Amino acid sequence: MEQYLEFKGIGKAYPGVQALKDISFKVTGGKVMALVGENGAGKSTLLKILSGDVKPDEGQLILNDSEIKFEAPVQALGAGISVIYQERQLVPSVSVMENIYAGDLPVGKLGLYSKSDLKKKAQALIDKFGLPINPAATVGFLPVAYQQMVEIMKAYRRDSAVIAFDEPTAPLTDKEIAILFKLINQLKEEGKIILYVSHRMNEIFQVTDEIVVLKDGRQVKSFNTAETNERELIKAMVGRDIGDTYSNLKRNDSIGDVLMEVNNLNTNVISDISFKLRKGEVIGFAGLVGAGRTEVARALFGVDPILSGEVKIEGRPVKLRSPREAIDQGIALCPEDRKEQGLILWNSIKDNVCMPVLGKLKKGLFMDEKAKEDLTLAAVKQYSIKTTNIDKRVMELSGGNQQKVILGRWTSEKVVTKILILDEPTKGIDVGTKAEIYQMVCDFAKQGIGVIFISSELTEVINVADTIIVMHNGHITGQVSRQDATEENVLAMAMLD
Ligand SMILES: Nc1ncnc2c1ncn2[C@@H]1O[C@H](COP(=O)(O)OP(=O)(O)OP(=O)(O)O)[C@@H](O)[C@H]1O
Ligand SMILES: [Mg+2]
Repeated sequence: MEQYLEFKGIGKAYPGVQALKDISFKVTGGKVMALVGENGAGKSTLLKILSGDVKPDEGQLILNDSEIKFEAPVQALGAGISVIYQERQLVPSVSVMENIYAGDLPVGKLGLYSKSDLKKKAQALIDKFGLPINPAATVGFLPVAYQQMVEIMKAYRRDSAVIAFDEPTAPLTDKEIAILFKLINQLKEEGKIILYVSHRMNEIFQVTDEIVVLKDGRQVKSFNTAETNERELIKAMVGRDIGDTYSNLKRNDSIGDVLMEVNNLNTNVISDISFKLRKGEVIGFAGLVGAGRTEVARALFGVDPILSGEVKIEGRPVKLRSPREAIDQGIALCPEDRKEQGLILWNSIKDNVCMPVLGKLKKGLFMDEKAKEDLTLAAVKQYSIKTTNIDKRVMELSGGNQQKVILGRWTSEKVVTKILILDEPTKGIDVGTKAEIYQMVCDFAKQGIGVIFISSELTEVINVADTIIVMHNGHITGQVSRQDATEENVLAMAMLD
């Protein structure tokens, strides 16, 4: 029998927001169903309902003719449903094989299990998917991409009928994405029911068969992937035609003098980094995950100690021994990892946005609450942050909206910036807002700010930046201008040693 999963009239409300309403569609085995929509559209909420993490207010879930209801996530697992989130759900301190078979270790006499049996079983599975992973390796030491593969193998090993992915490629490089897609295709051939959430249009067209578009918690359209195109899909998501993002950009066409000069910078991770950033210039940093781009940002922002080398701003050598010193020199950093380095999740949007400028918002001894409010409202407007109010805790926002709060924090007019470092600013951001962020980057450049734009999405770095610097293994392997950059030549440099 062909397997299927059906959502029937699913609804879920949070205080002040109807996160989902009347969601009804069916996914059959052997098909990949894309769930797309703007930030806050309800995609993750739907997957959380599927995984038993969130209870719907109304509606039913049907798996192969029977209704399934969960009181807890473990019941969803038992019913054959695995949802793979961006945040890993593995035990980092134990081995790959023990993670794959967690909960089902082949226990022998005396309650012990044979490591060699386990290793053989895990190896067989790893070989089946053709992955270069050692079953005895400790999960926490693996690259994120492989940790994700371990999770997929775990789902497969449990014989899950349904495997759902929530923005799985955000932390992956192109090469790793190719491995993931190969795996998804294998799962598809075996008749699994697959759901796939992503903001990346090229992936949707590469790996999915059908598409459901959500908007403000409603299902607004469905497509057969083969019968639609990017433009039509974006229009359904955003509600209007946004045209060609890159050719519509209004760029800065007067790049000025050298603003920052970095000479032979070394830290524990990066070596011999040298480049010049001019006023009003956007330098893109491309490279594979782990190439050292984030470490360049951290060194310049005074987070990672600089072991040797020199940084000059407007001709003067500067010391960058702490973020405070970096901020005093006019450097701002929008970090990559919104949870670990960026946001205080249990604080309000307002407190998070205003954090770096609290000192400037005081009226005498007291905090000027009105100024805080105005600043936050401006950020909410500028980035179309979807929220019921600015006192909402950041943890209640959707992933993409959390990312927008970080952008709002570091790009407010109160942060006096000469050099703005954006590390993966569009990670998890929907297509409409992405286009707005690219324009903002150009607008900063027009104000004379030097922008360092780090991104793993090759297309966006080579189309937004004026100059592209490519890194591999902690050093710079090449530099090209936008006019000369192609995906091929940048990727080739990203693999150079
Ligand atoms: N725990 C919660 N408490 C309150 N509101 C919530 C909670 N979780 C989600 N929401 C709200 O539900 C709506 C849908 O959020 P959801 O995370 O499903 O969006 P999404 O489509 O996954 O967006 P993104 O693309 O940004 O990840 C949003 O308005 C969000 O603020
Ligand atoms: Mg989400």
